[in-house]
Amino acid sequence: MPIQKFLAAFVCAFIAFGIAGETLAGPKDIIKYRKGVMKAVSGHMKGLTAIVNKKVDRRKDLKAHARSMHELAVMSATLFPQGTGPEASKTRALKAIWKDKAKYDKINDKWVAAAKALFVAADANDHGAAEKAFKSLKKSCKDCHKSFRAKKKRKKKK
Ligand code: HEC
Repeated sequence: MPIQKFLAAFVCAFIAFGIAGETLAGPKDIIKYRKGVMKAVSGHMKGLTAIVNKKVDRRKDLKAHARSMHELAVMSATLFPQGTGPEASKTRALKAIWKDKAKYDKINDKWVAAAKALFVAADANDHGAAEKAFKSLKKSCKDCHKSFRAKKKRKKKK
């Protein structure tokens, strides 16, 4: 085989493997990734809570937290594909997510809407509307976790 042909085949194989590697993210990787996304959600929620409860004088940050929250909520809607439940790896996601996907998606939609409303209120500097949107945002975390997230296991005492 002439060297050019050999090199071309080598490059093709390399590209094919690269693409396959990208599309074949395993359930474990997805679970790990979505936990990271939820941690980011939690970080923004802490920021929002401190601002809304006037623990810090950072009203100017409200919009950025709300925007990030909205983007993460949209992202989260597709972070629970089939096969990424407790059968795959360590996760607190309950099987109910896949059994009652319609209910799950509805709560996620409400979450997205609340985050959007908060962003719009922050953008308009409308404190009343911001507080209202923040309340429904908080409610969506609770509603979803109550039905679809396993309780934390207590660490065994030594
Ligand atoms: C539509 C459902 C849903 C909504 C809404 C939701 N979560 Fe979650 N959250 C989950 C599920 C399911 C898990 C478990 C993920 C896993 O273990 O794979 C989780 C996990 C978490 C975790 C643990 C992450 C880790 O390190 O394992 C935190 C923290 C969290 N959520 C915070 C929040 C906050 C704050 C909100 C609201 C702003 C929120 N979540 C809204 C479904 C939701």
